[in-house]
Amino acid sequence: MTLKKELKDFYNSNRDYYLEARRLNVNLTDEREKAFRFIPAGSLVLDIGCGTAENGKFISEFARYVGLDFSTIALDMALDYKLKNFYLVKGDVSRPCFKPGSFDVVISTYSLEHFLAPRDVLDQMYNVCKKGGCLIIISPAWDLPFQFPPSMNFAGNIYRRFFYIILRIFEDLRECFFGMKYNFKIIRNPSFMTNGYSQDNDTVYLTKAREVITYLKHKGCKIMHASAERGAAGNIIFRMVKYLFIKIPKYKFGDSRFFVILLT
Ligand SMILES: C[S@@+](CC[C@H](N)C(=O)[O-])C[C@H]1O[C@@H](n2cnc3c(N)ncnc32)[C@H](O)[C@@H]1O
Repeated sequence: MTLKKELKDFYNSNRDYYLEARRLNVNLTDEREKAFRFIPAGSLVLDIGCGTAENGKFISEFARYVGLDFSTIALDMALDYKLKNFYLVKGDVSRPCFKPGSFDVVISTYSLEHFLAPRDVLDQMYNVCKKGGCLIIISPAWDLPFQFPPSMNFAGNIYRRFFYIILRIFEDLRECFFGMKYNFKIIRNPSFMTNGYSQDNDTVYLTKAREVITYLKHKGCKIMHASAERGAAGNIIFRMVKYLFIKIPKYKFGDSRFFVILLT
């Protein structure tokens, strides 16, 4: 079975996954609230990989909300909300689903890291947004060369992990000399396939904030806001190393959930 099919089956059959997302979003979280402040009242908003449309509950109070996802289960659950200004579309976010320039705002919250074709998705987000509209993205950032999502199946294999870090350092050095090469690195055997689901082990895109932002800037977007939210995880040595790394400009989004608003 292809990874795309495995992923689709996972999202189409895992009701518990979405129940947990719903439980965590009964109230408006600070991160979502911060993002919604950038959505003008009355605008038409597309939510990419909307899941159970937790964003829609809040956005539909002041704007027109359209959620797009390929999971039937998620969209069925989202229908429970029965809201005004609230529409759902089943489709693949990496394929053209709407006419160019259809939306004032396009958002992706906690979903970019789950897309197998992130470059195509960013292209679609850009295309379906009106000129002068805005793109809003919240996603984890694994910009630091020694960080990786739980879905990377190292399973205690210290050599593979070491090799991964060396390769990343090498790629980052090459980037310093030759500029950004868009890798959009995909995790081909995410650990949810072998070990069952645990938090974030369904991540398939090794998201780097600087890759996403540079790519969209390259397409013509302007940054309106960019910030990094960080927790204080790990032991003191690891925290110090991370602290030093994120002082380097190219790693400023490292170890964070980045939040970026771009004008198209
Ligand atoms: C973590 S969930 C969404 C979280 C949601 N955006 C939120 O803010 O709560 C990721 C979603 O992406 C969807 N997804 C992944 N790949 C997709 C694709 N190619 N097309 C459409 N939806 C996709 C999955 O079905 C899943 O519902």
